[in-house]
Amino acid sequence: MTQTKELKFFGRRKGKAIKQSKQKLIDELLPRLKPTLPEKGTLFDMNTFFGIQPKEIWLEVGFGGGEHVAELAQLYPDIGFIGAEPFMNGVASLLAHLNGSHEAPVLHTNLADGRTDNVRIWPDDVREMFPFFKDGLFKRIFVLYPDPWPKARHAERRFINSHNLKHLYRLLADDGQIFVATDVAAYAEWAVEQVELDGQFKQVNHDTTVAPVDWVPTRYEKKGILAGRQPIYLVFSKKNTK
Ligand SMILES: C[S@@+](CC[C@H](N)C(=O)[O-])C[C@H]1O[C@@H](n2cnc3c(N)ncnc32)[C@H](O)[C@@H]1O
Repeated sequence: MTQTKELKFFGRRKGKAIKQSKQKLIDELLPRLKPTLPEKGTLFDMNTFFGIQPKEIWLEVGFGGGEHVAELAQLYPDIGFIGAEPFMNGVASLLAHLNGSHEAPVLHTNLADGRTDNVRIWPDDVREMFPFFKDGLFKRIFVLYPDPWPKARHAERRFINSHNLKHLYRLLADDGQIFVATDVAAYAEWAVEQVELDGQFKQVNHDTTVAPVDWVPTRYEKKGILAGRQPIYLVFSKKNTK
């Protein structure tokens, strides 16, 4: 598969019109939180990437409305978070969470009082960033409620696939973990099958109906539970490491 084909994004980039106040956050706050890709062939400088020197770095792929990354970033102010999401309404929602205006008027375009500068937002396909991260950078990688692409002819669009697993393996710390959650049983089966075919990870949680320790549910997960859907949690770590 060619690089171009690998990087084609099939989801939505825009939904309903973004309110003017949120657009102001996109115009003024996002540029301060969006990393600039370094020169091809070089890596992000993690010493200057966040407004803090993070103890660990966690990645969230497809943060949707950003509730999960926003909450984790508040719970763990000494961790650096990178969230990627091409859907601009979702990006605007995360900015509002970080700005403290999710359920209040936008009074300024800074981080909310008391928030650490520990989140960076990539408002696009996460895979564009992969070549610029050093090996083993991430202690945790979250892929939460990925688009299931249920039709067999769309299978290659599913995020957990052989290409992405190879990147995730390189980027995961030796003692790191990948968290995948879904409420589509067929997707969970697919993900486990892809991981087994890849052969480099082991599943470390046994009861997939039990949320991992300290789990923060995403908006999608909460909606699914209310609608009677059962979350399935998959936690993977690298094989052949401690
Ligand atoms: C079903 S939504 C779930 C959103 C959120 N994780 C939640 O649980 O509420 C899946 C999200 O993944 C995003 N996504 C899909 N492929 C992506 C990619 N390659 N890079 C970043 N985000 C991606 C989509 O835009 C979409 O918002």
